[in-house]
Amino acid sequence: MCGICGAVGKQQAAPIVFEGLHRLEYRGYDSAGIATLVDGRIERRRAAGKLDNLHTVLEASPLAGTTGIGHTRWATHGAPTTCNAHPHSTNRVAIVHNGIIENFEALRQRLENIGQNFETDTDSEIIALLVDYYLQQGASPKDAALQAFSRLEGAYAIAMIFADHDGLIIGACYNAPLAIGFGEQEMFLASDSLALVPFTQRITYMNNGDCVVLTAQAAEFMTFDGKVVQRAVHHTKLTDSTTHKDGYRHYMEKELHEHPLVIGQTLQRMINPATRQVTLPPLPFHLKHVSRAVMTACGSAFYAALVGRYWLEEIARLPVDIDVASEFRYRNPPLNPDSLGILVSQSGETADTLAAIHTLRHNAAHILSILNVTHSSMARESDVVLETLAGPEISVASTKAFTAQLTVLACLTLAIARSRGILDPLNEEEFVSALLNLPGCAAEVFKQTDAIRAVATIIAEKRNVLYLGRGNLFPIALEGALKLKEISYIHAEAYAAGEMKHGPISLIDTSVPIVATLPYGPLFDKTFSNLQEAKARGGRLFVFTDAEGDKHISKIAEQSIVLPHVHPFVAPILHAIPLQMLAYEVAVLKGTDVDQPRNLAKCVTVE
Ligand code: M6R
Repeated sequence: MCGICGAVGKQQAAPIVFEGLHRLEYRGYDSAGIATLVDGRIERRRAAGKLDNLHTVLEASPLAGTTGIGHTRWATHGAPTTCNAHPHSTNRVAIVHNGIIENFEALRQRLENIGQNFETDTDSEIIALLVDYYLQQGASPKDAALQAFSRLEGAYAIAMIFADHDGLIIGACYNAPLAIGFGEQEMFLASDSLALVPFTQRITYMNNGDCVVLTAQAAEFMTFDGKVVQRAVHHTKLTDSTTHKDGYRHYMEKELHEHPLVIGQTLQRMINPATRQVTLPPLPFHLKHVSRAVMTACGSAFYAALVGRYWLEEIARLPVDIDVASEFRYRNPPLNPDSLGILVSQSGETADTLAAIHTLRHNAAHILSILNVTHSSMARESDVVLETLAGPEISVASTKAFTAQLTVLACLTLAIARSRGILDPLNEEEFVSALLNLPGCAAEVFKQTDAIRAVATIIAEKRNVLYLGRGNLFPIALEGALKLKEISYIHAEAYAAGEMKHGPISLIDTSVPIVATLPYGPLFDKTFSNLQEAKARGGRLFVFTDAEGDKHISKIAEQSIVLPHVHPFVAPILHAIPLQMLAYEVAVLKGTDVDQPRNLAKCVTVE
């Protein structure tokens, strides 16, 4: 969480940094600020709330200077006020920080004891005060920064500028990402290369524990003990156009419409068209020796993993253990070198999931990560990465990344099943065909937009909604409920359809709509009975089904939404789409901030 950006060179820095922050706002939008050097003095502008507020401040009081840093905040320590907004500064140094300084109280106490005054409630201000302290002792900016870094505990990506040192930015990262952009006589840094693509395609992703000294001409990388190291420059394929809404009302709407493309691209990468078999990149271990999978992830990515568990157990007959990443390590599951850790993450930076990698590594398990951002921290710490090819996902609510994760998990299941010698070639052909049919079917879902909007008008008036699904569609019900909560602020709970009678059935009355996902297939009859039980108690049913299912559903549902019929194997992928669309339409009707819902951030880099 929090995005940082910096620029040094010949152009005015503030507009560049502002542009970069605009692309990082998905990381947090509680406050924003920029500091530059003007005639050697540190000047800063800050504003509580979204970047628009900072824009207003900058219009009234522009910032000159060709060396600058900026920040967009997701508050951890201290309320989202202007006073707590970054950059934090003294007369000598200004800093921006993403992460948490865990030992800030002890450090703050020591500095207060020697007469330093703190102005904010943040953990981050300690960095400015600490560097300032070493500068006062006569250290150079680089030495002051390195001495300060050696005292910090926690997670951080930091950028800082120094009074009277025009043309210099020092950055560092530890358990938080930082990318450096190389321009012509100008250099940039940012939490994500997305922020740099308007200015350059030449990017270096810093290693954990790297420090960088940035001038207009060069980037010098070093470890925290000052040892100079070389870091490769990559040419990113990202372009500026990937970060526009393309005429859609929100990024979420645009990203929803990218489902068919993203599923298709991911399949193209994973299925060899000649053999019609899944092809994985070379693995540093034999899949056939894997005796158990241990899956973990957070939020929507966790629900994708939950579907993956159904597939791996049923189709590949592989025992699977699964938990949310924030709880995973507390269970301290017994692992061995035959255990395969499967981690799922859009950003590749989620702190809980990253911590789970460390637990897996410690226990000698192999680590396979399914990631959308392949230059992320998780990518660096995994044995193998399967890429989801969803492209940049800007909306805080995950959509296309989720179906891309499912697509990869489905392919991985087939690869594991084959390597274990239990996938009949005829079955494999059937599963592969089902996958290859998906992009077309996904495109057809959008024909139901009006029907979904009609359901949305009813749900938008409600305070509580129940979601039901069975088997591998239960995690899809969980995903539907999460999406509704996240962007429309309506309370929603998802239950395994068969579990409803064990408690939640008492919630049912006419004020609690029931959204069910129930295509025709092996589990239809049982779930249909559950819906009848709900109907008998006054439940209002809104059911996502297919033509065959609708022959039955239409008799009891207030509204059914008829989707293309797909093979039950891939039904979770298809049925995720309309549930996400429903949440989107409800949020639009409620007028919430769809792309940047309150209290959230896209990239959760704190535990
Ligand atoms: O980047 P990750 O996939 O690791 O993020 C995990 C969750 O934070 C994320 O899926 C979150 O639940 C989304 N906002 C859901 O829409």
